[in-house]
Amino acid sequence: MIKIVTIIGARPQFIKAATVSRAVAENNGVKETIVHTGQHFDANMSDIFFEEMGIPKPDYHLGIGGGGHGLQTGQMLIKIEEVLLKEKPDWVLVYGDTNSTLAGALAAVKLHIPIAHVEAGLRSFNRRMPEEINRILTDDVSDILFTPTETAVKNLNQEGIQKEKICKVGDVMFDAALFYGQIAESKSKVLSQYGLNIKNFILCTIHRAENTDNPERLKDIFNNLELVATKHTLVLPLHPRTKGALEKIGFDREASNIKFIDPVGYIDMVMLEKQSKLIITDSGGVQKEAYFHKVGCLTLRDETEWVELVQNGYNVLIKDFNKLVDEVDTALGKNQFEKETFLYGNGDSAKLIVDFLRQK
Ligand code: UD1
Ligand code: UDP
Repeated sequence: MIKIVTIIGARPQFIKAATVSRAVAENNGVKETIVHTGQHFDANMSDIFFEEMGIPKPDYHLGIGGGGHGLQTGQMLIKIEEVLLKEKPDWVLVYGDTNSTLAGALAAVKLHIPIAHVEAGLRSFNRRMPEEINRILTDDVSDILFTPTETAVKNLNQEGIQKEKICKVGDVMFDAALFYGQIAESKSKVLSQYGLNIKNFILCTIHRAENTDNPERLKDIFNNLELVATKHTLVLPLHPRTKGALEKIGFDREASNIKFIDPVGYIDMVMLEKQSKLIITDSGGVQKEAYFHKVGCLTLRDETEWVELVQNGYNVLIKDFNKLVDEVDTALGKNQFEKETFLYGNGDSAKLIVDFLRQK
């Protein structure tokens, strides 16, 4: 029996870990202990995912949310170290690129506990993004780097990471999209709840620090989204970071044409994605989910880690927000999904990860 400590804390990590925890439950050679750092803490940013996706209740909840990077990461490091000293696992499993990821990896490497990083090798090559720093440092100290794509493998090769450490398994988010996508069809009532018609609305999410923390850029984004919303129904589940940032710039949500809703659980989110006619986002996960559910995507960023989506015409980067209205029209006129492609594995990534860790 091998013992894994999983460190999670932010919304996308609950979704990724759900698939792996399910594979663990099907494999009696592995015991998983879950540590929730508390980075995301609102019920609709955290609890709902555990409830809906059947993720086991965390064994430890560290209660560390909010605060600047140093405070947040530092407090997590202190508390995760205490847990690891007590649990003495064979592996620490970390996901993605958040402060919870980095804190978990740093705590483990100093205690000489092997680290497995799921979603390793992603790079935006923009070191002003906190996520880019978290990824580079986590990959550097990890012992097994589970990569979702060939591009990720190449990035790690270029950084001189030992080839034996790299294991391409595909993307656990594809596993999640397949499994929960079916459940969403029968369970979700989100369309009727918000009076939305099938394939008759645009779904939008905005939360990335580079977009929300610069008031001019945020105004520019929302002025242009407002223009789109005068022509199309535009639904936007509002991330708490963006809610705070919009309040700071005095944006009047009541007077807006944008249909702001609270963050939704994964099952409703999948339904919104599947039934939207187009997605506008700056989220990493949502860019891929647009592709999984065969919906066109416009990404409000200067670059992306998921380059294969752009190269294959599934996703368009929008760097000049004044072009958004025209780009929406262009995207709505395209059909890029006639030929089926599998850019992110076979939907069995979680099983591959668990089997690999067990045999190591
Ligand atoms: C974090 C990750 C980002 C990821 C995103 C997923 C880092 C550096 N960033 O960004 O990579 O894409 O999660 O959503 O780790 N807040 C609440 N309630 C919550 C969660 C957050 O009110 O449940 C507020 C807090 O005031 C907090 C702010 O939102 O200070 C930002 O949260 P934080 O976790 O620091 O960063 P995110 O923007 O969520
Ligand atoms: N998501 C969700 N509810 C929402 C918005 C997003 O369940 O209201 C899901 C989305 O489907 C995806 C994940 O959260 O699986 C993406 O997380 P986020 O955009 O917060 O972070 P990122 O992927 O950019 O790190």
